[in-house]
Amino acid sequence: MSAAESGTVEEPLLQVERLRTWFPIRRGVIPRPVGAVKAVDDVSFTVHRREVLGLAGESGSGKTTIGRSILRLIEPTDGRVVFGGADVTALGRHELRLFRRKAQIVFQDPFAALDPVMTIEEILGEPLQVQGLAKGRQERRDRVVRLLESVSLSTDFLSRRPHEMSGGQRQRIVIARALAVEPEFIVADEPVSALDVSIQAQIINLLQDLRDRFKLAMLFISHDIAVMEYLSDRIAVIYLGRLMEIGPATEICRAPKHPYTLALLSAVPDPDPSRRRTRIVLEGDVPNPADPPSGCVFRTRCPYALPACAGERPALRPVGPDRFVACIRDDVL
Ligand SMILES: Nc1ncnc2c1ncn2[C@@H]1O[C@H](COP(=O)(O)OP(=O)(O)OP(=O)(O)O)[C@@H](O)[C@H]1O
Ligand SMILES: [Mg+2]
Repeated sequence: MSAAESGTVEEPLLQVERLRTWFPIRRGVIPRPVGAVKAVDDVSFTVHRREVLGLAGESGSGKTTIGRSILRLIEPTDGRVVFGGADVTALGRHELRLFRRKAQIVFQDPFAALDPVMTIEEILGEPLQVQGLAKGRQERRDRVVRLLESVSLSTDFLSRRPHEMSGGQRQRIVIARALAVEPEFIVADEPVSALDVSIQAQIINLLQDLRDRFKLAMLFISHDIAVMEYLSDRIAVIYLGRLMEIGPATEICRAPKHPYTLALLSAVPDPDPSRRRTRIVLEGDVPNPADPPSGCVFRTRCPYALPACAGERPALRPVGPDRFVACIRDDVL
């Protein structure tokens, strides 16, 4: 029996192992695959119970594809996703339904996420009904009211429809709907990027509060690494479908070890002048994920690249407790 099986070591809630999600590119009159967009290419990480892992990276780096592949809203091409000890990639239909109760997603756009013809009571009652979580109307209503309370909305909202609400209020409903089925894990995919800056902090604070109250683990996706530092325990930085660096959030932000992480942080104005002496401004475009550079995918935009970076793809190497970086240089940052 392994240590994990005997219960002596706490197993991660989620293990993503060598995940690949490629989208085939088809051409021709009778479409044939002529290549693939390597949206996620060999990505591994874990999320522990009650942990928030931030997933950072520019637009198109593969963040959403990772989140959706974990929940099997997109079928991964290769690799494994293990949740609570079970291989999600091998679940049948019935088991997948049970899994979807434990793992929920909150999307970026609260306007598109809610059915405009339904009332808030119907929107929040639906998952309770589908998952058989409330017996009868009264119990369902009681639970819906509690859900509203948990996202700081009053019962006045029960009979309203999404268009009668502000963006921030709608996102609270989207979050409440995700919580309805009492998940252990939430993928929050850019949950604040569609909102006014003044509202963003409120929603981040709400997520922080809910994570403690409901003992949630979360994959918090954002292109804004500054937003992420506050909420995340650890941060994973991804570029062109690959993991560049992963480690404790404050350390990643205070002392990045990968030039790409430094570049992301350089784009953020920092009120603390003692932090981040070096700055990198990224030049050039993100390469085509259907035809990524050999070796390190970041090397074509990296000011520290060496000829050797075009050779082997750099493996993640340990650079401190719980910290890993996929860069062969250890002499610049
Ligand atoms: N269904 C699809 N078919 C083909 N290519 C796709 C599909 N979905 C995503 N891609 C491509 O995969 C890559 C990763 O996309 P993804 O949406 O995961 O990135 P992202 O990091 O979430 O970006 P953003 O910050 O803009 O949301 C991109 O090159 C994108 O064009
Ligand atoms: Mg996305």
